[in-house]
Order: sequence, then C-alpha cells, then structure tokens
Amino acid sequence: MSGARVLVVGNAVLDVVLRVPHHPAEDEELRALGRRLAPGGNAANTAAVLAALGHRVALLAVLAADAEGRTLEAMLARRGVSLAHAVRREGATPVSYVLLSAATGARTIVHHRALPELEAADLDAVPLEGLAWAHFEGRNVEALGAMMARVRARAPRAGVSLELEKPRPGLEALAGRADLVVAARAYAAARGWATPEAALAALRALAPRALLVCAWGEEGAAWSAPDGASGRVPAFRAGPVADTLGAGDVLNAGLVHGLAAGLPPAEAVAGAVRLAGRKCAREGLDGLGPEDWEP
Ligand code: FRU
Repeated sequence: MSGARVLVVGNAVLDVVLRVPHHPAEDEELRALGRRLAPGGNAANTAAVLAALGHRVALLAVLAADAEGRTLEAMLARRGVSLAHAVRREGATPVSYVLLSAATGARTIVHHRALPELEAADLDAVPLEGLAWAHFEGRNVEALGAMMARVRARAPRAGVSLELEKPRPGLEALAGRADLVVAARAYAAARGWATPEAALAALRALAPRALLVCAWGEEGAAWSAPDGASGRVPAFRAGPVADTLGAGDVLNAGLVHGLAAGLPPAEAVAGAVRLAGRKCAREGLDGLGPEDWEP
C-alpha cells in the first residue's frame, strides 16, 4: 500500500515512562526498573505510527516553547511526523507521567496540562490539497466540530475519522460528521455500554453513514458498517503483554492505514487489531512497520 497524505489533529504530549515491577500502593517507595521519554498524546501517537507505516503525516497540535517542547518536537520529527503547521502557544508542554507495570503491562497515567487548546482557525493555515484522510482526537469539542466541518468543505474527498476515548459534552454529536468512528473500551464503560455490540448500536443512531469500531482490549474489536455488515475480530497475541500504553492510538492508525487504501472494513479492522496486538507485545511504539499490518 502506498503512502497517503494524512492529517492528524489533537494532542502532542511528552511521556515520561517509568517501568516498575508493580503498581505502587499509596505511600510506598519503589525503584523503577527503567525510564524512557517518548512522544505521546493520542494524536501524536497515531501520527507517528502512520508515518512508520509509510504515510506522509502532518500533525496539527499545540506546542509550547519550553525545553520539553523542543525535546518533543525533535522526537516527533525523528519519527517522520511533520510539524510544519503545528501551532506554538504560551504555556507548558503537556507531560504524562506513566507507570508501566512489568508484571502485567498495564499503564497508569498521571497527566499534567497547562497549555491552550487548538482553535478552529488553526486549521486554516494547513494546506489540504491531495489529503487522503483526516483523523481527529475526540477532545476540545468547541473547536473540533468546526475543524471537522472545515476539512469536509476544503477536502471533500478525504476520509474523516473521530476517536471517542473519554466522554465530553457535545463530543458524541460529532460522530455523524465522520466516516469512521472508533470508540475505546473506556468510553463504552463510561457510557454504561456493557458490550462492544451495545456501543455500536448506540453509536449507530448518531452516525448512520459511518463505519463504527469499538475496541475491547484483550477481546479484540467489534465493527459495524453502514450497509449492515458487522463483525468481531479477536485480539491478536504476538507474545506476553509488555506495554499497553498507546495501544488504542495504534489501532486508530491501523484503521486509517487500511481504509485510506480502500480496503473493506473487515480487512481494515483485522489489520488494525493485528498491529495493536504486535504493539502490546513490545515496549513503546517504535519499530512497528507495514509488515506488522496484515488483514
Ligand atoms: C496514550 C496516551 C499517552 C499520553 C496519554 C494522554 O494513549 O496518548 O501517550 O500521555 O495517553 O492522555
């Protein structure tokens, strides 16, 4: 599959990841087994993986002019993500302090943010000629709807996807503007949807024309297409679970990769689940490539 022009809109974060033998209890003192810095934030993660899959990827995110911001920019540039249209604002680089359990691969995230969000007008400076796909992180709802509408107006041939990870007022109403809506398991849980199928049924009413995907961790993912086709893809276990940080962002990248190539939903979801499974068996997001995406 050849590289497509993709725009990813959302957050860029610096992740400080401490590998710990187990999650500490309150007031416990614990020595980390290892520490690494990595680019993070759902949009930046999805962008980095799409670049690794061979696409020409631009990230529209707010960056801060501090030392962490320069580190983050350099790390993203090294991963082939264009920041030519990223927006610089006064504030501090968002940082996530992540505890990654060596025992289970589970991650606990403490996020600090003191940086303004994107504004809808920030999209106006981004050239959209030849854009194949625009993927939006489901946050910053005020600007998000307007940005999705602007992409639709300026790049009518581009596919548009929306990630639902945390419920936010007004977010779900934007599902109808996307061709692909991906709901995380945490999203479904927060909405009280007990199964991925329940999530898909609820979202279908909001987005009659979109491909809907609901991720379900170690149980894989379920999907439903607007023509009534649907399916469940079991999770792919490439080895013991080493690190689940960003697995959902990898799934999103895998979906865009398949759909931008024009593949049918069943294949796109299968390839994305496999890519996310391979990610969970390794630490970090680096090193994934097109060979890790197979339907
Ligand atoms: C993983 C992630 C991390 C980031 C955090 C933000 O999905 O994007 O990289 O620090 O979530 O909430």
